Amino acid sequence: MSNSAHPAKGAPVDIDGAIAERPREIRQYPLLDAVYARHDQLIGEWARGRTLEIAHGQYAHPTADVAVDIFAENAHAAQCSAAVSDARQLPFTTDSFETIIGRRFLHHVPAEDRLQLIEECKRVLKPGGRLIILEGTPGLYRRAVKGIGFALGILGEDSDDYGHCSAAEIRTLVDEANLLTDVNRALGSPLMPLAIGTHDSLAHLGELVSQTQLVRWWTLHVARVDREG
Ligand SMILES: C[S@@+](CC[C@H](N)C(=O)[O-])C[C@H]1O[C@@H](n2cnc3c(N)ncnc32)[C@H](O)[C@@H]1O
Repeated sequence: MSNSAHPAKGAPVDIDGAIAERPREIRQYPLLDAVYARHDQLIGEWARGRTLEIAHGQYAHPTADVAVDIFAENAHAAQCSAAVSDARQLPFTTDSFETIIGRRFLHHVPAEDRLQLIEECKRVLKPGGRLIILEGTPGLYRRAVKGIGFALGILGEDSDDYGHCSAAEIRTLVDEANLLTDVNRALGSPLMPLAIGTHDSLAHLGELVSQTQLVRWWTLHVARVDREG
């Protein structure tokens, strides 16, 4: 595949241990576009009120009011008000948001800083506010399938060398931060978005396909602040 067909993204940069980068531009890849559309829908079922997206990369959720990313090049890509900021120290006062979205990003934060990150989200969330995390599941299967996707030029390469956080790891962090879990849900493999992306008539089967897949590809975790509790 030529470089012009698959433009190189910015190489990852270490900023105080965080892996900062300019991720793929999803609009160039119909499959990725379909994955994000599906995730937008799932996230949208929980997002309410004033919403912050952390580590938005090249794409913020349509309901995000504000977005932050540590990589300066990403600021222009948000469709909403954007700032360059480290999500471990958010530039917002306590109780600022009803919802915080963070997708495909927790694994970019050093393991020893992840609890601090969740607690920082808790600080800027209002009581009753929700943190919505979407994270890829770790494993060889994911790497192998992505490798094939890269080779076929249907995914757009990204640097996936630093692993992902499992559903159990996310649950532990959220519990340690004393957030209440509403959802800790495994989502299916790319067959689901493939079906949705390529056959409109199958879109209504997305949920069924997701539930019946043995291999888990994503974790959706939704946690709530209950300061009174
Ligand atoms: C794999 S990309 C995901 C981007 C976007 N959320 C998406 O799903 O396409 C990870 C993003 O996390 C950002 N990032 C990493 N560490 C961060 C930190 N501590 N604070 C804010 N952004 C961070 C990177 O710059 C990058 O844009």
